[in-house]
Amino acid sequence: MTELKNDLLLRALLRQPVNRTPLWIMRQAGRYLPEYLEARQSAGSFMKLCKTPELACEVTLQPLRRFPLDAAIIFSDILTIPDVMGLGLHFVEGEGPKFEDPIDTESEIHNLPRPDVNESLHYVMEAISLARRELKGSVPLIGFSGSPWTLAAYMLEGGSSKDFATAKAMIHDEPKLMHTLLGKLAETATDYLNAQIEHGAQAVQIFDSWGGILSPEAFREFSLRYIEQIVSGLKRENEGRQVPVIVFSKGANTHLEALADTGCNALGLDWTISLQEARRRVGDRVALQGNLDPAIVRCKPDIIRQQAGNVLNSFGQGDGHVFNLGHGITPDIDPDHVDVLVNAVWEMSPAFH
Ligand code: CP3
Repeated sequence: MTELKNDLLLRALLRQPVNRTPLWIMRQAGRYLPEYLEARQSAGSFMKLCKTPELACEVTLQPLRRFPLDAAIIFSDILTIPDVMGLGLHFVEGEGPKFEDPIDTESEIHNLPRPDVNESLHYVMEAISLARRELKGSVPLIGFSGSPWTLAAYMLEGGSSKDFATAKAMIHDEPKLMHTLLGKLAETATDYLNAQIEHGAQAVQIFDSWGGILSPEAFREFSLRYIEQIVSGLKRENEGRQVPVIVFSKGANTHLEALADTGCNALGLDWTISLQEARRRVGDRVALQGNLDPAIVRCKPDIIRQQAGNVLNSFGQGDGHVFNLGHGITPDIDPDHVDVLVNAVWEMSPAFH
């Protein structure tokens, strides 16, 4: 077993005792950091950063050089899966992701390949190995994948969308075809996460960023079911240690009990539910991760401290909490504000353990 100097994240995700609340930040490597913008500029594009393991590793480590975070998350994107399934991903400045060849016919769905992720996403695996080497056991490394529904939504829409109306229409017009697509994505996402674990990811997170736009019935049949399939197919132990699984289904707080039943170790929560309520509903089964509103990090330092304190208070005394934002940090944030947040959690959280 490789030595891990700070295992607070893994312990908290497994609801084991810790002496303070561990913290990491979704999108912690990103555009609010000047050194990230510089790295992206010299690489030429976001995809070049992702596809060059040395650069992806470098960017993964950037936030940890600034802030005493309790985890690194491998720098990549959820849309690398559709990219290697043949859709051709690129990013248009200010517009987000775009696929050259979105899927729009039945035969394209039937013909989607099951990629050999060790081969086609070799660059991610190499970045993970490099990052593990560079981290030298200081903190754990998190791997991730998109949920099948969230990936399908982007693949059918061809990029970002406010309402993913094309994908939602397909759920109702062509449910069988949608299940075919989701089944294929679940298989590949399982392969992908297992490969990440084998290459050294010590915890994994499934991002179901668009779960919350579905009706309750559609959520259970088209999102939840496939998250469950992935979780049940994951390798849960590596290097003699448990590999915790976090499910973050944004906007799906009505389904907390069902999400906790997927077999995951922890639920990521957005800021629209109190941790107190979430803990009452599922805290005896899973750890909770979150859930400061990302908008708060723009506020004055006193407010950041106060609101971080409210999140800690809302979870209350005891173990099984990982501090995070309720969604990714936004590009407009001043890194000094992140410092305030991280220090606040370091200072206040020991009192809760
Ligand atoms: O958390 C981390 O630091 C790891 C890196 C990471 C990125 N994307 C880097 C990234 C992770 C975990 C993701 C996940 C991701 N990607 C999700 C799920 C999380 C969420 O936010 O809900 C989604 C939906 C995507 C798809 C995606 N990638 C979009 C919609 C965009 C455009 C976003 C925007 O604000 O323009 C991206 C691009 C992206 N992924 C960036 C980063 C740092 C910005 C790209 C740039 O530098 O120009």
